[in-house]
Amino acid sequence: MNPQIDNLLHENRKFPPSDAFVSQALATAALYDEAKADRLEFWANQARELHWDTPFTQTLDWSNPPFAKWFDDGTLNVAYNCLDRHVEAGNGDRVAFHWEGEQGDSRSVTYAELTAEVKRAANVLSGLGIGQGDRVAIYLPMIPEAVVAMLAVARLGAVHSVIFGGFSADSIRSRVDDASAKLVITADGGWRKGKVSALKPAVDAALEARGDLGPQETVTNVLVVKRGENQVDWTDRDLWWHEEMAKADAEHEAQPFPAENPLFILYTSGTTGKPKGILHTSGGYLTQSAFTHKVVFDLKPESDVYWCTADIGWITGHSYVVYGPLANGTTQVLYEGTPDTPHPGRWWEIIEKYKVTTFYTAPTAIRSFMKLGRKIPKKFDLSSIRLLGSVGEPINPEAWMWYRKVIGAKAAPIVDTWWQTETGAMMISALPGVTETKPGSAQVPIPGISIDVVDDDGVHVGTGNGGLLVVTEPWPSMLRGIWGDPERYQETYWDKFGDKYFAGDGARLDDDGDIWLLGRVDDVMNVSGHRLSTAEIESALVAHPFTAEAAVVGAADETTGQAVVAFVIIKESMLEESAAVEDIAAVLRSHVGEQIGPIARPRDVFVVNELPKTRSGKIMRRLLRDVAEGRDVGDTTTLADTTVMQIITGQVSAK
Ligand code: WTA
Repeated sequence: MNPQIDNLLHENRKFPPSDAFVSQALATAALYDEAKADRLEFWANQARELHWDTPFTQTLDWSNPPFAKWFDDGTLNVAYNCLDRHVEAGNGDRVAFHWEGEQGDSRSVTYAELTAEVKRAANVLSGLGIGQGDRVAIYLPMIPEAVVAMLAVARLGAVHSVIFGGFSADSIRSRVDDASAKLVITADGGWRKGKVSALKPAVDAALEARGDLGPQETVTNVLVVKRGENQVDWTDRDLWWHEEMAKADAEHEAQPFPAENPLFILYTSGTTGKPKGILHTSGGYLTQSAFTHKVVFDLKPESDVYWCTADIGWITGHSYVVYGPLANGTTQVLYEGTPDTPHPGRWWEIIEKYKVTTFYTAPTAIRSFMKLGRKIPKKFDLSSIRLLGSVGEPINPEAWMWYRKVIGAKAAPIVDTWWQTETGAMMISALPGVTETKPGSAQVPIPGISIDVVDDDGVHVGTGNGGLLVVTEPWPSMLRGIWGDPERYQETYWDKFGDKYFAGDGARLDDDGDIWLLGRVDDVMNVSGHRLSTAEIESALVAHPFTAEAAVVGAADETTGQAVVAFVIIKESMLEESAAVEDIAAVLRSHVGEQIGPIARPRDVFVVNELPKTRSGKIMRRLLRDVAEGRDVGDTTTLADTTVMQIITGQVSAK
């Protein structure tokens, strides 16, 4: 067993909220009672916190499961709810973003300014032919224009597909094709690790003229933000963002769209080689992201300074940098760069500078700071912090305790929030000021959310037992499907139990009935809080001319949670050629980087002669994981050839 998970099973410390926190907390135990009394009415009330142009009369339509419709006959404009509404309420001067560039350049943007920029950008986009339902790909660094671009798309009722800046040209191409995007918004480059990392060349490579075969190019324009000042090639379809913005009309009135109008597609790794385009719509998504952001972070919009460190290329950036916080009129920090540039205390320096009150990050970041030691954060004044959050992977109790002591001064409650790209918003978390917290446990469902832990037959496991995490009732921000593939949606999440959503995570209920997440139960890895698919990396590896076969596993890693470890067999015909290569592992690692993106590069690549397979030919990843984690290899009786593991273990330990 993964040693971090093992620790989780022996943890029994508890931390009640302080009286001082309780006396000012937004959340109360009554929220659970309200939700229990009438779940749908509870969500309808949360939805009514938004501005609806046409109020909805029906809360949930579940007549065609698993395809849900929430607030279906209502209409709203998502961008209006995140922007104009606050300006009209007299809060236009409130800072929406304190943006900090990696080089130390900074810019504060108020709600009035952000609204004005989004209006202009909406005019630019509609001038380029973008309207309701059109797909726009966004490939940008963490700069205010990224938020402006997303909200401008939303304002027009169009659909954005944000592609993480670390993905390669091939990944951009497949995402643009899958969604038939009409427009790409990118930048020349952005700052990362002290230098400009170019972005536009990857878009250019993705959009290079197609041959006669293959689909028709759907992209008509590329809009380019100037940020890195790096030299870029230029074609007829390219336009500079700043030039178009300067020409655009400043006025733009937001039109209402149906609650179920698609808002965005976000690709995430599944168990097959092809990423899934997770589809989210408007009213239900905004309701749950705003509600959870408010109660889980005890949000006081007049006084809090909130910082979520996630990149907007991931769901956490969508729901807890853009939509939830902006719908609530939050003041945020937005940081362009990496945590250790130009020095390892960069994050803590930013917290001191902006007096951040609420900080939301991933366990992998906490563990890498732990490794560097408490001396670094101790150099900065972190006394403004009053609440800490964690997301993306199970947080081991050691990291939780360090976070509490060193960053939270033993006073700030920690909320460990479990959710997924598919769930759109938080599903399991403590409520600060209400829940007695436990290091390593995400604990309890959000009010209005129905979660269970069940065995393979779908039967509740009972306290003290482990099983599979499921959601038993539809929820407002649930995915509405996989873009263009309703069958895959049904198959992946619903076929296993019929009437319950299968999350793909293992979980355990403790004696109090609290939920402890135990990691993925499928072939999805979680590396530094990022989801990667074993199949996707395997298919990238076999695309290399040297590779005959490849198997990839996620092995426990002290810092990143899991690390990608690959086992490859070289083609007979390539043995000679590959033998001439000095470092074949390095060649294959960088090949994966080019095919998918640097985050997918394996930590280790082992060249082996054989892979362990069952008699039906299925690769036994469990055994490879044993090898990768340096353990004795477990039960091999179902292998077609029982000697193969000895050979592999020998080959790996010879390295
Ligand atoms: C994992 C990120 C334990 C889980 C928001 C899930 C977690 C996957 C937690 C989704 C947590 C996320 N504790 N595990 N607090 N949060 N996970 O789609 O395995 O990038 O299925 O969404 O991350 O990853 P995704």
